[in-house]
Amino acid sequence: MPFAGIFAALFFAAPVPTFSYDVAPVLYHRCASCHHAGGVAPFALLSYDDAHKRAGLIATVTTKRYMPPWLPSAPRFQHELRLTDSEIATLAAWAARGAPEGDGRATPPPPVFSDAWGLGKPDLETEMPKPFEVPADGPDLYQCFVIPAPAKENHWVRALDIRPGNAKVVHHVILFQDTSRTARKRDQGAGYPCFGTPGFLPARGLGGWTPGAAPAQKPEGIPDLLHGQADLVLQIHYHPIGKPETDRTRLALYFTSDAPKRRLMDVALGSSHIDIPPGDRAYKVTDHFTVPVAVDILGVIPHAHYICKSMNAWAILPDGTRRTLLTIPNWNFDWQQQYRYLTPVRLPEDTRIEIEFVYDNSAANPRNPNHPPARVTVGPGTTDEMAGLHLEATPVDPTDADELSQALWGKMMRSLGGGIYRPGR
Ligand code: HEC
Repeated sequence: MPFAGIFAALFFAAPVPTFSYDVAPVLYHRCASCHHAGGVAPFALLSYDDAHKRAGLIATVTTKRYMPPWLPSAPRFQHELRLTDSEIATLAAWAARGAPEGDGRATPPPPVFSDAWGLGKPDLETEMPKPFEVPADGPDLYQCFVIPAPAKENHWVRALDIRPGNAKVVHHVILFQDTSRTARKRDQGAGYPCFGTPGFLPARGLGGWTPGAAPAQKPEGIPDLLHGQADLVLQIHYHPIGKPETDRTRLALYFTSDAPKRRLMDVALGSSHIDIPPGDRAYKVTDHFTVPVAVDILGVIPHAHYICKSMNAWAILPDGTRRTLLTIPNWNFDWQQQYRYLTPVRLPEDTRIEIEFVYDNSAANPRNPNHPPARVTVGPGTTDEMAGLHLEATPVDPTDADELSQALWGKMMRSLGGGIYRPGR
């Protein structure tokens, strides 16, 4: 048991950890992005006083890995919030030994959070046309807001930053572009409800915001096309907090004149064959895809709703080696986000990618939205389920893009399994 070992070593042999020397750096690095004044978390964790009075709670929530909210246990990703075993042991030992401050003058300066955009002056800055009233109570809201064609001309987008107007109630945000003019018809001024999908096709995501995340930068040399005529659609997940709040979320886009050097392709795995009997504690959904050409996998975006428990994705290389693409032992809808690998994962031609999602539709699952449990099928609603895993892939040899795209097309047609295909949809 490495964890117990590290813990015991720190507790009995090592000097007592102090706030100034051991704890402050962990809090600044892994907690402060949410736990600062005006951040999404309900209190700041910057000063000795902030931390000292909650030392026991900090030890508990970190030992259970409830905080920081970071779902994957493997592999390694950029901007990772996951604590190392030794950081957890430090926080636990500090709390257990009375949470001492140490030499206050030696405490490093806390990080500073400002209202300014993290990547400097944007090329396009815009916001929700009107503030939105978030009621005091009731279920979480998923609302879409249309910003009518702010760009006017086509642009290559290299980065996106989103700033919630009110971090207390904004849980996450996804930005889409809509060239179909559907969203604009549905938004009569206060947005429209849109759990799951934003309700138009094609719904091309431009990126998103989750609490504590850095601005969404596109991979080097692969900017995203923003259509000049596209409406921008912000899909916002609001969480009522017991008193009425208003929000007006802003966004910033950063352009580049350099056209893409590589093509980013969506390797989508998942299933729409979901039919989970009430009480089933371990319903499995699987899918697989064999890449016909060598690819670099840059990122992964997993998606399911509330009763999904775990997600696994791995690659089986032609020589039989297995590589973990994603392990989420304890899925939580509220903390979903997209992940970019520390370094791209190179998969040779003929690598088989497999996924397995497990769902718990029993009453023992505290996140089950149905009381008592009911049959759950595929769909976009809060009580429906989904199973999707999107890999951001780019062919190692750019001339292989068409072959990959054809294979993906074939996979999609097979999964529709005799369904009616309408061109252009
Ligand atoms: C991505 C944002 C985010 C990060 C990073 C984060 N927190 Fe939190 N934290 C929250 C939010 C939001 C809440 C309140 C809602 C909840 O409890 O889920 C919270 C609640 C807490 C609570 C109160 C839990 C309770 O049961 O009352 C503690 C203690 C805490 N966080 C400690 C930490 C520590 C320690 C870290 C870093 C090691 C950390 N958090 C990192 C967002 C974050």
